Amino acid sequence: MAAVESPHKNTLSRIEPLLRAMLIAPLAAALVGSCQSAPAGKAAIDTPDQTHTEPVNLPPPQAGLPPDPMHGQKEETKGYAVPKPPLSKEYWPCSDCHNDSQPPNRTRRELKEDHTNIHLHHDEANRWCLDCHDAENRDALHLASGVTITFDESYRLCGQCHGTQYRDWKSGIHGKRTGMWNGEKQYLLCVHCHNPHSPHFKPLKPEAPPVRPSLIR
Ligand code: HEC
Ligand code: HEC
Ligand code: HEC
Ligand code: HEC
Repeated sequence: MAAVESPHKNTLSRIEPLLRAMLIAPLAAALVGSCQSAPAGKAAIDTPDQTHTEPVNLPPPQAGLPPDPMHGQKEETKGYAVPKPPLSKEYWPCSDCHNDSQPPNRTRRELKEDHTNIHLHHDEANRWCLDCHDAENRDALHLASGVTITFDESYRLCGQCHGTQYRDWKSGIHGKRTGMWNGEKQYLLCVHCHNPHSPHFKPLKPEAPPVRPSLIR
């Protein structure tokens, strides 16, 4: 037993103070160093950078034009080739009826004289016809900002509230996009698949399971 108790222990205990000194000295030095440099770092953060306080020269807002939430995305939205919007021939152009002889009626009401087939089922508690259709120019839609858009840009209207689907639609994940992966593309409008007045899909009734061949006689 005693023989196994090696001489190493003795050696270790002898050099221990030396080892300690070697370890502690750099640590202490680092600590002192960081304490000394702290005030300098603090001062640098507290002093505001005087070079960045000059006013930025923004172009003046254009008078009379409401801000367009899609501002800056215009170039992008130009590129969407879509088929004709699925409007009924009997109702287009809207201005056949909605002209000076029939001024816009902004009162929220149940329509009785026309459009009786349109039942609003699309967040109807908070929305009415003229939130999407332009009152003054019935042949156009408008965004929340008041900017009018044509019916072949209706995805911009939908995109205001359904940003995720709009983003996915643009990249061909939602809806239907055809064409070249690195060239011209065609898109179906949201309204080719969704009724803008009642966009929910009715739940489908599941089909009966297929009959086993062994049961067919
Ligand atoms: C969420 C926005 C939205 C609301 C709210 C809305 N519409 Fe529409 N409506 C649209 C869009 C978008 C189209 C175009 C669909 C298309 O391109 O075929 C449309 C199409 C129409 C059409 C043409 C239908 C056809 O068959 O050609 C009529 C008429 C119409 N809307 C009337 C109304 C009336 C009346 C109301 C209120 C009861 C209303 N809309 C509410 C977005 C809306
Ligand atoms: C054949 C005539 C006719 C055409 C075409 C027509 N409308 Fe109308 N529209 C009416 C009448 C009439 C009313 C009023 C109905 C009522 O008060 O009961 C009305 C009401 C509306 C309203 C409710 C707000 C308001 O000003 O009264 C909206 C929105 C509307 N129409 C949208 C459209 C759109 C969008 C189109 C084109 C896609 C269109 N209409 C085409 C006859 C027409
Ligand atoms: C002003 C905001 C707004 C606009 C614009 C709008 N939506 Fe909606 N939409 C909603 C809200 C809120 C709901 C959920 C409540 C409801 O369905 O009544 C909804 C529901 C839907 C649904 C059903 C979602 C589900 O889970 O089943 C579809 C599909 C849809 N919208 C498509 C459209 C299309 C297509 C357009 C453009 C013609 C459009 N929306 C424009 C606010 C909007
Ligand atoms: C080619 C047809 C098609 C087109 C185009 C299309 N959608 Fe859809 N959309 C669908 C289908 C299918 C569903 C899934 C319905 C379900 O799960 O019940 C859906 C679901 C949705 C939903 C419900 C949420 C979800 O993800 O289940 C919203 C909101 C919606 N679409 C908005 C839009 C908007 C906005 C556009 C245009 C930018 C658009 N869609 C274009 C077919 C389409």
